[in-house]
Amino acid sequence: MRGTGSGRTRVKTARKRTAQSTRWLERQLNDPYVKRAKAEGYRSRAAYKLLELDEKFAFLKGVKRVVDLGLAPGGWAQVVRKAAPKAAVVGIDLLPVDPIDGVTILLMDFMDDAAPDRLIEELGGAPDLVMSDMAANTVGHPQTDALRTMALVETALAFAIDVLQPGGTFVSKVFAGGADSALVAEMKRNFATVKHAKPPASRKGSVEWFVVAQGFKGRSSDQA
Ligand SMILES: C[S@@+](CC[C@H](N)C(=O)[O-])C[C@H]1O[C@@H](n2cnc3c(N)ncnc32)[C@H](O)[C@@H]1O
Repeated sequence: MRGTGSGRTRVKTARKRTAQSTRWLERQLNDPYVKRAKAEGYRSRAAYKLLELDEKFAFLKGVKRVVDLGLAPGGWAQVVRKAAPKAAVVGIDLLPVDPIDGVTILLMDFMDDAAPDRLIEELGGAPDLVMSDMAANTVGHPQTDALRTMALVETALAFAIDVLQPGGTFVSKVFAGGADSALVAEMKRNFATVKHAKPPASRKGSVEWFVVAQGFKGRSSDQA
């Protein structure tokens, strides 16, 4: 690894490193968001995606109960803790996560039938924000990857509609320019506003986008 005149860090391809992992390492080392995350104490550069989404849509202020789907390593949870220090936060991930003060973490598959009840039990009541940064592990087959990710988004949305407080917010990572039309229609039926955004921290070359649905209209049982 060596510096260049321009301040960029170059990485020499070590014998055991593939060209792909060399590119990844070089990108990490030169990524301003990675540097910022390190300096500002965030566990992931993903933290800035949530901060930038919140700058645009202002959904964090005053939240009381938050569900964080796909929490690891915990950047989003840290952002929520800073923005709303009194909020109860429960997160779930397949991967183990180092503890975060004030955050309950479930090591569990969100697709497990027991996950929704466990999340709400730990939270102690209905959330006013459900956020998902879950991404399926890609298998390199674009249709399969897209389907697996859409299944996560669909399940996260169904969960949000099932548990959110009226007025609540659903934020989710989606792919390929946005959620598909059936999913957007479902969001529009249930939320006052549905917006797509690609925050500056989301890498330009990635197919990742986010959807922000605000003003949950409530379940018909809430209105009865
Ligand atoms: C991009 S990372 C989340 C980054 C996080 N928002 C942050 O700021 O640190 C996506 C996470 O989703 C998790 N994930 C994917 N599928 C999941 C599932 N079915 N249940 C729980 N977590 C899942 C992955 O393990 C991964 O840690």
